[in-house]
Amino acid sequence: MSLFNKSVSMVIDKVPPQAIAVFAKKYIAGPTLNDAIRTTKKLNAEGAMTTIDVLGEFVSTKEETWHFRDLAIKVLEAIDQHKLNANLSLKLTQMGLKLSKALCLENIEMIFEKAKELGIFVRIDMEDSTCVDDTLEIYRNYRDRYNIGTVLQAYMRRTIDDIHRLSDGRLNFRLCKGIYDEPREIAYKEKDIVRDNYIWALETLFEKKAYVGIATHDEYLVFHAERLIRKYGLNRDDYEFQMLLGVDEQLRKIIINNGHRLRVYVPFGKDWLPYSIRRLKENPNIIKSALEGYMK
Ligand code: FDA
Repeated sequence: MSLFNKSVSMVIDKVPPQAIAVFAKKYIAGPTLNDAIRTTKKLNAEGAMTTIDVLGEFVSTKEETWHFRDLAIKVLEAIDQHKLNANLSLKLTQMGLKLSKALCLENIEMIFEKAKELGIFVRIDMEDSTCVDDTLEIYRNYRDRYNIGTVLQAYMRRTIDDIHRLSDGRLNFRLCKGIYDEPREIAYKEKDIVRDNYIWALETLFEKKAYVGIATHDEYLVFHAERLIRKYGLNRDDYEFQMLLGVDEQLRKIIINNGHRLRVYVPFGKDWLPYSIRRLKENPNIIKSALEGYMK
């Protein structure tokens, strides 16, 4: 990591939200559901599918969880009403996982029921390592009743074992590198090992006939994914690529033009700050390019 990137990562938590908003705009559809609908329509017209995410995580009251639950249900209704090629991504801590597991289950069951009624898929995002056991258990307990999937993170040392542990049922995973700052004891820190583990996990999932959302902007991984898709003779509907809104639109077009299906993660809402900070820490070069543009 360059000195500039290191410095940005260290100070970003102290930067005022208004300043972060300037750089974060491209990653977020906007504050309202209408923004997510508009963004999805545009992406659908460009040949991409979307997954809509209501921003907000680690909530601290049950009333807040109800607010987010109702918003998630509104997203499902909007997808149905506007006939969007989209599904829903959901964070368990937003549904109360850290307040009470019973409350969280009550909330997600209401969402899963609505999704089932409307025929819409729901993906449970993976959060930090304190959530992995609960998330995988919830996925296991609900996967037969509802059309759902969850996420595996290639930086976690446990991921290959998790795939084997969950192999006694339907497998539907988004595979990503992982974005949280985890300790070395449980997560690989070397970029190359994370990449190798990603490829190993992807191949293991394909061997087990899992449906995989190949979530990456790393062209090296896209290359290996395309190789494995050919090796396993997969049809277009057996997998999908996934990318974040605002990241590497050129690669997005290349993947679509290569004949693959691609889904864009479309976050919206008022609680945009933690998500934006994670994105900027991940890629401080955004700030550098913006500053260079400004100084020209
Ligand atoms: P890498 O970080 O190496 O990026 C490759 C290249 O992509 C960079 O060199 C840069 O050019 C570009 N790039 C990457 N990030 C950028 C950014 N923020 N801004 C601009 N350019 C950028 N994580 C998690 O822990 N739980 C989850 O549920 C999810 N969900 C999720 C959904 C989807 C659809 C995606 C694409 C990603 C996630 N992630 C996630 C995040 C994921 O774990 C990972 O942190 C990012 O995708 C970055 O990893 P890459 O594989 O893209 O490689």
